Amino acid sequence: MSVRNRIEIVHGVNLDQLGRREETMYGGLSFDALEYRITAWASELGLTTRFFQTNHEGELVEHLHTLEGLADGLLINPGAWTHYSWAIRDALEIAALPAVEVHLSDVQQREEWRRHSVVADHCLSTVSGKGPDGYRDALILIKEHLDG
Ligand code: DQA
Repeated sequence: MSVRNRIEIVHGVNLDQLGRREETMYGGLSFDALEYRITAWASELGLTTRFFQTNHEGELVEHLHTLEGLADGLLINPGAWTHYSWAIRDALEIAALPAVEVHLSDVQQREEWRRHSVVADHCLSTVSGKGPDGYRDALILIKEHLDG
């Protein structure tokens, strides 16, 4: 059987603005620096990555539609869409890939409206509140799942 190691890293709204966002919540890392770290962690684990970020909900939905046959697993941080985008939740269902939901900040300890995720039931698990290191944890979870 062929190796299943292609991980799609998907970021939603406002995450391209990391570095300009509240440092106490999100840390000072720029978005490019975050992607660089994720690439390095993935390669240590024998995983390959592709990245996608958009501030347009429909673009994220359409991107998820394209993944069939191109990715074996998914890391997704939808940003604020996490809390209300039923469209992204349905697109995740269509993509039908093993996925881990990631948040830099600890969404459970923030405002009430951030405590609910509409995508969580289509993800294997959620990693939240660990800053950039949470992406490494999420890559490990996906790898363990793919290695079965
Ligand atoms: C976030 C948490 C969301 O509530 C917020 O809207 C974001 C970032 C995080 O990574 O902590 O944009 O997904």
